[in-house]
Amino acid sequence: TVGNSTNIKWHDCPVDKKGRQMLLNQKGCVIWITGLSGSGKSTVACALSQILYQRGKLSYILDGDNVRHGLNRDLSFKAEDRAENIRRVGEVAKLFADAGVICIACLISPYRTDRDSCRAMLPTGDFIEVFMDVPLQVCEARDPKGLYKLARAGKIKGFTGIDDPYEPPTDCEIALKCEVGDCASPQQMADTVVNFLE
Ligand code: PPS
Repeated sequence: TVGNSTNIKWHDCPVDKKGRQMLLNQKGCVIWITGLSGSGKSTVACALSQILYQRGKLSYILDGDNVRHGLNRDLSFKAEDRAENIRRVGEVAKLFADAGVICIACLISPYRTDRDSCRAMLPTGDFIEVFMDVPLQVCEARDPKGLYKLARAGKIKGFTGIDDPYEPPTDCEIALKCEVGDCASPQQMADTVVNFLE
């Protein structure tokens, strides 16, 4: 029995991850970008994807906001739905990595245990956690979608960082730190990730 299914059996194919990676001349992996709303996750993900593209490396972005338009459209922002959101994206990211693709997942993913579960799905070294270490003050000042304003006005309930928790990573591979008035550009941050990958 697996989950709620019985009588299911894993099926292997001789065309495997190793072969696909050779075909693509790259290593499939998951780059997991976590951080508050407005911390720059999507912007850095996009800058990173562009650098990789220019270098002939195939990547694919799984953006929380976008995935919630389709695969995860049935999920809310309550804790158990956020957990399911992360679990599903973790599983999809794992499939992309298995396909040989550099999968860039950018979601708030506020709970450490949910992120750690995704890490545990992959071989050691294939899950690279990137923390957008940006103070709430900076994210709130940016407020690109006006959501912090709505949250402060009580028009959005359970907004991460305002009246919902965010648990920062304790052992991430990369922390992209930003201070008030002193923040690297998205391009510089993406370069840091590329240097790590190299
Ligand atoms: S999570 O916590 O990982 O499940 O969130 P995620 O799938 O990344 O979606 C985050 C985007 O949803 C919008 N949004 C909210 N964020 C946080 N809390 C609440 N309550 C909320 N409601 C809507 C918001 O635009 C987030 O986008 P980003 O890109 O993070 O700013």
